[in-house]
Amino acid sequence: MCGIVGVVGRGPAAPPIMDALRRLEYRGYDSAGIATLEHGHLARRRAVGKLENLENKLNCEPLAGLVGIGHTRWATHGRPNERNAHPHAVDGVAVVHNGIIENHRELRDGLKLAGARFVTNTDTEVIAHLVSHELKKGCKPVDAVRLALPRLEGAFALAFLFEGYENLIIGARKGSPLAVGYGRGEMYLGSDAIALAPFTDMISYLEDGDVTVVTREGIDFINAKGEHLRRSPAKVAGSAVLVEKGGHRHFMLKEIHEQPRVVGQTLAQYVDVVGGRISLPKDVRLDFRDITRLSITACGTAFYAGLIARYWFERYAGLPVEIDIASEFRYRSVPFDPGNLAIFVSQSGETADTLASLEFAKAHGQRILSVLNVASSTMARASEIVLPTLAGAEVGVASTKAFTCQLATLACLAIAAGRARGVLSADDEAPLVRALADVPDYMTCALKLEPKIRQLAHRIASSRDALFIGRGTNYPLALEGALKLKEITYIHAEGYAAGELKHGPIALVDKDLPVIVIAPGDMSFEKTMSNMQEVIAREGRTILVTDHKGASLAAPGSSAMLTLPDMPPLVAPLVFALPLQLLAYHTALVLGTDVDQPRNLAKSVTVE
Ligand code: AGP
Repeated sequence: MCGIVGVVGRGPAAPPIMDALRRLEYRGYDSAGIATLEHGHLARRRAVGKLENLENKLNCEPLAGLVGIGHTRWATHGRPNERNAHPHAVDGVAVVHNGIIENHRELRDGLKLAGARFVTNTDTEVIAHLVSHELKKGCKPVDAVRLALPRLEGAFALAFLFEGYENLIIGARKGSPLAVGYGRGEMYLGSDAIALAPFTDMISYLEDGDVTVVTREGIDFINAKGEHLRRSPAKVAGSAVLVEKGGHRHFMLKEIHEQPRVVGQTLAQYVDVVGGRISLPKDVRLDFRDITRLSITACGTAFYAGLIARYWFERYAGLPVEIDIASEFRYRSVPFDPGNLAIFVSQSGETADTLASLEFAKAHGQRILSVLNVASSTMARASEIVLPTLAGAEVGVASTKAFTCQLATLACLAIAAGRARGVLSADDEAPLVRALADVPDYMTCALKLEPKIRQLAHRIASSRDALFIGRGTNYPLALEGALKLKEITYIHAEGYAAGELKHGPIALVDKDLPVIVIAPGDMSFEKTMSNMQEVIAREGRTILVTDHKGASLAAPGSSAMLTLPDMPPLVAPLVFALPLQLLAYHTALVLGTDVDQPRNLAKSVTVE
């Protein structure tokens, strides 16, 4: 998964390309590069690691040229190093790529037999060779690209630069998203509208199979046969302002502290506090009485939000829920009943696995509802119904505020479904609505635990492994707590259903293993306490995350306790998430890892 950009400008192309790459770094930061045409000749600057390394290189060796392409990389094939960094260039053709060419090995072998010399270990380099091969046959650049594309299997968003063509970029898309932007005498191309926000808000999106010809005068779209296509531009809401840390040391910490406000604003869309009821936006034309089964699909943290929501749809709406991680879902033979509802959850709206599952469900006659944080995303355009989470831009790779906003939105949807299906009465609904309305206050209290969590972090930081356990909705929350710790501290952490521990994982317990027990004083509290005692009996170091009721009931023996205010069970997962996020954050601080851009990760996974 990578970010690509292209500029056909009137001024030097390198500065706007760098600006766009800063907005695409959430897609990968293994290496970055730019190519421009100087006096018709290709010139490249590439650097391994974060974008600032390329910035430093450009300060020393600036690039002239009014037309250029750029790339920020998350390595799929070939180690993150300068040689494998994009743009790749072959005989005057430069290319940047987001996606995976699945048949690159066979193409490479064929091209080698034809005399091609490869200098990288990437899948992408074959594309530059194929296009330059067509050019050598006397093709014009657009035809060379059109003729090369059918040989590629897999997913791609591409941008090409050609020596001698100082007023031309060619783009192509299959699977991976690609947009073009309209300026005054300048035109742009990028992986998404976010990248182009500093230059324009007039955007067209390429469809699968499209090739685009970008010049200063305009933008053309053609299909594989060379026939012209119409891709009407649309005005997109995108902020040209780069998100700041707002005085916080890291975006992640800022985003953790934003939750009372952003969860409040997300809820305000769906909750009528005065009326004590959930009121979904008018354009949500969905009658839950027609729905007999739900499927929920997502990846990573978004998947854990879906796992928690399953409990709510079953309990408050009496709806059976099929839930799976997206990378598995689309390869299963799910027995879909036409007309049922498929829910997709995503912060970025660009996650390739989730997108592919969405198309799979759509192809099986499911209605598509997506809970999304980026309104201009590919998933938003592919969904029948979109329920926005108003978390604002989430920059930290480890998702925090998007998660709790997803939970808030899914809780509202489950209650609305329960009302529509007659499972919940107005009297049942009112206290649930009041509980949701109180979440921002509960969250503000939870954030006050930070000083204590900062101390506890030192214990976790000295451990090699950690376990998180919980029951009911706190089980997926345990999975999320473990994911947060893994992502930013690189400590091996696992989440388990508390009752499952004794069926094997308890073998891991010894005096060096911290076990975080998530147990609000709800109906499963006593059972969870028994599981905690089983750990304590084996010298495990438990940290109990509970509420006042739980604290008053908890037997002594836990090595530490984080106490939150008492709250209705519905909202506990939204609030109990915060101490887990802070525990991971402060442990990462102790270990000095890169909190906002952890190794090997990217904010949006745009390849399968
Ligand atoms: C979470 O902290 C991770 N960044 C990752 O697991 C993420 O949740 C997953 O890639 C899904 O992303 P999405 O919500 O943008 O689809």
